[in-house]
Amino acid sequence: MKFFVDTADVAEIRALNELGLVDGVTTNPSLIAKSGRDMSEAIKEICDMVEGPVSAEVTATDASGMLAEAAKLRAIADNVTIKVPLTEAGIQACKALSDDGASVNVTLCFSAAQAILAAKAGAAFISPFVGRLDDIGQDGMSLIAEICEIYGNYEFRTEVLVASVRSPLHVVDAARMGAHVATVPPGVLKQMFKHPLTDKGLAAFLADWEKTGQSIL
Ligand code: G3P
Repeated sequence: MKFFVDTADVAEIRALNELGLVDGVTTNPSLIAKSGRDMSEAIKEICDMVEGPVSAEVTATDASGMLAEAAKLRAIADNVTIKVPLTEAGIQACKALSDDGASVNVTLCFSAAQAILAAKAGAAFISPFVGRLDDIGQDGMSLIAEICEIYGNYEFRTEVLVASVRSPLHVVDAARMGAHVATVPPGVLKQMFKHPLTDKGLAAFLADWEKTGQSIL
């Protein structure tokens, strides 16, 4: 399973990248706004820091506008993945971009029907938003199971990129379903390390070691 970090906060990405766990980064207009940074500068800095795919989202709503913005975003770095919304224009742009060799992440996916369209359009990634489905009382992870089942029936190259992740359980469930990628907010990734019995056990080991008066070095 690949871990992408879901943020445009360069400092957060740098810190997590040092753990050796970051396989890519996803951003969106809201995350860019939250960062307070110029989009092109932030994406360039992130692409220089992370080898894997870095998703940069278009903001045009028509296909030709998306393609014009995609050309500018692709010029920033070789590892830019273009993010387009799951709309008719987004799917049209996805097809044109993937035919031109670009990596495309189709975002704001909330149904299996939408996911089939993205795969047909040659998307490199599909981003179903599980947290936002949970927010309205639907079961976001059941959509992931459905998409993984459907994609497994065909030779679709599109990777399932679980997005809108709100807890470590979303990551665990995504892994159990065989999703290719989870894009994880920094806070959730940090939560994945935590267990009280680990902390308690380590404290006990170190207390007992202290009593020996020994040093490994
Ligand atoms: O990658 C999509 C993600 O940033 C959306 O998350 O929590 O706003 O639904 P959220």
